[in-house]
Amino acid sequence: MTSPRRTFAIISHPDAGKTTLTEKLLYFGGAIHLAGEVKARGANRRARSDWMKIEQQRGISVTSSVMTFEHDGITFNLLDTPGHEDFSEDTYRTLTAVDSAVMVIDAAKGIEPQTRKLFEVCRLRSVPIITFVNKVDREGRPVFELLDEIADMLALDVSPMSWPIGMGGEFEGVLDLASNRISRPEGDSRAFLGTVEDSPALSERWQEEIELAQIGYPAFDPAAYRHGDLTPVYFGSALKDFGVAELIAALAEHAPAPRPQPAEPAPVAPENDEVTGFVFKVQANMDPNHRDRIAFMRLCSGTFKRGMKLTPTGHGKPIAVHSPILFFAQNREVADEAFPGDIIGIPNHGTLRVGDTLSERADVRFTGLPNFAPEILRRVQLKDPTKTKQLRKALDDMAEEGVTQVFYPEIGSNWIIGVVGQLQLEVLLSRLEVEYKVAAALEPAPFDTARWVSAEDPAALKDFMDLNRGAMAKDRDGNPVFLAKSAWEVGYIADRYAKVRFAATRER
Ligand code: G4P
Repeated sequence: MTSPRRTFAIISHPDAGKTTLTEKLLYFGGAIHLAGEVKARGANRRARSDWMKIEQQRGISVTSSVMTFEHDGITFNLLDTPGHEDFSEDTYRTLTAVDSAVMVIDAAKGIEPQTRKLFEVCRLRSVPIITFVNKVDREGRPVFELLDEIADMLALDVSPMSWPIGMGGEFEGVLDLASNRISRPEGDSRAFLGTVEDSPALSERWQEEIELAQIGYPAFDPAAYRHGDLTPVYFGSALKDFGVAELIAALAEHAPAPRPQPAEPAPVAPENDEVTGFVFKVQANMDPNHRDRIAFMRLCSGTFKRGMKLTPTGHGKPIAVHSPILFFAQNREVADEAFPGDIIGIPNHGTLRVGDTLSERADVRFTGLPNFAPEILRRVQLKDPTKTKQLRKALDDMAEEGVTQVFYPEIGSNWIIGVVGQLQLEVLLSRLEVEYKVAAALEPAPFDTARWVSAEDPAALKDFMDLNRGAMAKDRDGNPVFLAKSAWEVGYIADRYAKVRFAATRER
């Protein structure tokens, strides 16, 4: 018998408390299994620590990882999403691999830009969301205002499940609305020390407020939550341990088990016997001692067993997965078995790419993993021309990981890289130097944005490409891309070539 799975991610704006909450979830989950970071050894230690330096200086986490914990007989797979907006593309892809999400909001700030962006991605895939309003131990905005903001800005029904009795200096605890029990702060640090009181005597002010809340918002409706139309809202303080146990209980009780995944020719249900999964992330050089790559696969159906042969749809021969990895603790542990909803790391030498479907019979293809049009384009200038091969390999590797995109222009030899955020440029240069020993510089490219082009009529596409050869390039997979000087130019050109489609995202 396998335990039920809950595969989820936390979405938030930087500083809302995602890291603190993650730590607390892992702590409450008993064993802390941390993943995504493998200690580098010997001379190669620098490679990782340099990269870490960027993380530390910027105070953000660059890599996303998988953390598994168990609680009350349920296995939770928490997929970490980098919070910084520069890494949105990687984050978006990670969100394709979860069944639900927890949205963390700072009680003093409400909905912030990054929360909203990530929410929109969840909505695209109808990912159900549990809201956690954090930092109620500090002065925050009025609760009604926060709830109305969530409802209005995200066009979502909200259903408060708990209620903070005061915030900041007035904070008396968090009341669970269903059971009418309050968790109270204790001691100098005013942390939650396990004091729970049934049916507390609350002042009239609070009684009125809670009555209003119960009339004013819809009751929790599990079906509406699972459709992504309603979010249950919990209040708490990750730092002071309020509401974290309740959040885990809510995930266990309400969050969906592994859901069917969109695929062609038909969605794949987890009950399907055939082992299938898709790669949502590839990370190169996790262990600098082995120049391997880890493909992170979400298992969608079947029981995976070690040594099993899986075939990447569309390209390549079956590969035998002899050393699949579950990322427990600081060590890589070889997995013997995995179940739908689990994430498996598959070491490979570059065969596996983001978006790949892996299956036993190779007659299915998961859909919906997007590539986004880059917002910053730069020309890569190699300082030592004898390193062309290394540079190409490095750019291909990083394109595969989704750190950057790479475009090879039809005319000229200056490769162009594209990113969605400035910080990715720094990561790129630092990794080129440290991991690939390639000294390079980035200079402005004469282009501002890129669009994938296609057309039903091949002649129309060819005409367009022939007439615009100076602006044409190929992406890493050989797809034609139009490099434009501005978004305005894209519109102008698109009007002139009505038969050609200009796409800002490309589904892999
Ligand atoms: P992030 O991953 O979403 O970016 O947020 P993170 O957990 O790093 O939290 C951001 C800041 O907010 C941290 O403070 C953290 O301690 C604080 N914080 C998180 N949860 C709570 C909470 O429930 N109550 C209060 N009062 N603060 C909270 P910092 O000063 O930036 O860092 P640190 O020096 O405390 O680590």
